[in-house]
Amino acid sequence: MSLAILLITLSLFTFSLSLSSPSPGIPDRFTKSLPQSLGRHNSSPQEYIELAHPLPSDRLIPSCFHRVFKHTFGDTIGRPPISVPYSPPSECPPPWSHVALQLQVSSKGDQYDRIAAVWLGGAEILRTSTAEPNADGVFWKVRNDVTRYSSLLRQSNLKLTVMLENVVTRDLPGVYDVSLTLIYYTGNSVRVPSHHHESSRKSGLLEESRAVDFVNEESQLGLESEKFSDSPLNRKRLSDSLNFYETPADLIIPVSSVGDEGFWFRIESTSGVKSKRIQIPPNTRKAVLEVYVSFHGNDEFWYSNPPDSYIITNNLTTGRAHGAYREVLVTIDGRFIGSVVPFPVIFTGGINPLFWEPVVAIGAFNLPSYDFDLTPFLTFLLDRKVHSIGLGVADGISFWLVDANLHLWLDHGSSTVEAKTVYSLAPKLSVRRKSRFELLDGLFNIKAKRKSQFSGWVKSSAGNFTTHVLNRFKYKNLIIFGQNGTYKSVKQTVKTTSEVRIESEMGILISRTRMKRNYPLRMITSTVSGSQTDAYLMVTNVSHSLRERLIFGDTSSSLHNSQDSRGWMLVKDHNVLSGSATTDQSYSSKGEFGCYTRTISATDGRLITDSTTFSCESLI
Ligand SMILES: *[C@@H]1O[C@H](CO)[C@@H](O)[C@H](O)[C@H]1NC(C)=O
Ligand SMILES: *[C@@H]1O[C@H](CO)[C@@H](O)[C@H](O)[C@H]1NC(C)=O
Ligand SMILES: *[C@@H]1O[C@H](CO)[C@@H](O)[C@H](O)[C@H]1NC(C)=O
Ligand SMILES: *[C@@H]1O[C@H](CO)[C@@H](O)[C@H](O)[C@H]1NC(C)=O
Repeated sequence: MSLAILLITLSLFTFSLSLSSPSPGIPDRFTKSLPQSLGRHNSSPQEYIELAHPLPSDRLIPSCFHRVFKHTFGDTIGRPPISVPYSPPSECPPPWSHVALQLQVSSKGDQYDRIAAVWLGGAEILRTSTAEPNADGVFWKVRNDVTRYSSLLRQSNLKLTVMLENVVTRDLPGVYDVSLTLIYYTGNSVRVPSHHHESSRKSGLLEESRAVDFVNEESQLGLESEKFSDSPLNRKRLSDSLNFYETPADLIIPVSSVGDEGFWFRIESTSGVKSKRIQIPPNTRKAVLEVYVSFHGNDEFWYSNPPDSYIITNNLTTGRAHGAYREVLVTIDGRFIGSVVPFPVIFTGGINPLFWEPVVAIGAFNLPSYDFDLTPFLTFLLDRKVHSIGLGVADGISFWLVDANLHLWLDHGSSTVEAKTVYSLAPKLSVRRKSRFELLDGLFNIKAKRKSQFSGWVKSSAGNFTTHVLNRFKYKNLIIFGQNGTYKSVKQTVKTTSEVRIESEMGILISRTRMKRNYPLRMITSTVSGSQTDAYLMVTNVSHSLRERLIFGDTSSSLHNSQDSRGWMLVKDHNVLSGSATTDQSYSSKGEFGCYTRTISATDGRLITDSTTFSCESLI
């Protein structure tokens, strides 16, 4: 940005100076109070949803349902998580073609959004967050394909652990009732086709049928399965990234903490790198590290944090600092092997909680995990010695919850394999920061990019194959503060490319997988003081999306998920007293098995339009 543009921008803000605000009007998290004052007179609990395409197993007949967990999470912060014994159901022993997880949650009474996770044998299998309940109650379910964790799911006498960090006070009485069911599919028998090629439903009907379904989860699943039975589906959740899990790993090693407060590592600073010492079998032929991450506290809105110089110069007391750049870093014995700028998941209390009812922000119920193919580095790990896998957050401040699973595929034909890294290029991050501010108004610009490339061969009983891994991302962030710091605009884009190529010893290409992801975020908050003392009015706009394109050999699949939200709210302390908001969302996925599109619009807590189609014609 040139200086001229900057000056014009700044002078525009100076001309449009408005009332000063009791709050700097920064993006924050809020609870919703007094639902009656918002004109909501629901008497029955309301269902919340996150748009997602049907699971690959939805077209199959489930073999058994295994209710493995049920607990009410009251005041749990700082306490141990809840663990129950897990063994696979005797009625349908492995092998399974698919396993799906279904988490059902309900809550009543004011409460913030809360973070939660599920671990099996200390390995994370779901990261999720909650909707914000109200006096009438809310409920929702999260469904996830967990087939890739089969090596754990097969084992008996493991511990299944759930943590949901909740704080209960007189003003925030909401507790969360959580139950978890695993659904096993032993065969590939497809449900009898029904005739739901296209459906378009009005919200009233939808709620009614859902309310009944909630009581009887089995029948609900049956219904849903039937509905989707004739729609060819994507082979897997697109967010599962590269075709890393074409078959589930033979072994999963958790890279997680001892579990006093949940198995996640709590990372509170740049130097707070956490590591786990691991040892892998000498016949490992392929390794993928899957990283789970969420951000909280002063980094919940890291993409909108100003640099420290701004905070110091203006004598501000906020801890929301360190600028707007964050990168989750992965190391083996201190050596950089990969990084990701995470997708900016907005929790249900974030920015304007009225946006996220009853449709939550992208990823809020099912946070994405990020995969790193470590196969080119096997040479460092195959010496039967203990190695350290490290997880850190560049520029991170308190706090991040991070852990990982090391998925390993073994050579069943040999007790050892040979491996060597032949190429490793991991240049330092290139990051440019520009900032210019005068008192509370200013402009902060960050551009960063990184490209890394690794190659290594692995000689197993199947042959000698070389894996080439390429990871690249570009990051841009522009924050503008105006109107004496009461207007904030954030524009961020993240573009990533990951490619894995496997070649034979003769240099012949065996497979090539390429994933491109693009996640732009645009956010505006503008604050003016309200008529009531200490209350202020905030106008908020958020647009964000996730676009993915996966090319595997000569097949490809894509996802385009975008949300546009706009509205206002009257806020006192951290409570929303009144307001109005609309969220429009469009979700389309296209894969080798077909298409799925769902378009919704929600205003003031109600679904106004909701239509689903399995036709590919409506896709762009
Ligand atoms: C700008 O905001 C600061 C802090 O909120 C306040 O002290 C100051 O009076 C404001 N200036 C104007 C011109 O409104
Ligand atoms: C910050 O505090 C210092 C020392 O109290 C003072 O000199 C300075 O003017 C203050 N800056 C602002 C922008 O209020
Ligand atoms: C495996 O193949 C690579 C070339 O693709 C070669 O350099 C290496 O020596 C081979 N390893 C063994 C053990 O044969
Ligand atoms: C928010 O979006 C609406 C509709 O897109 C637009 O009219 C309004 O000006 C935006 N608000 C701000 C503060 O930019």
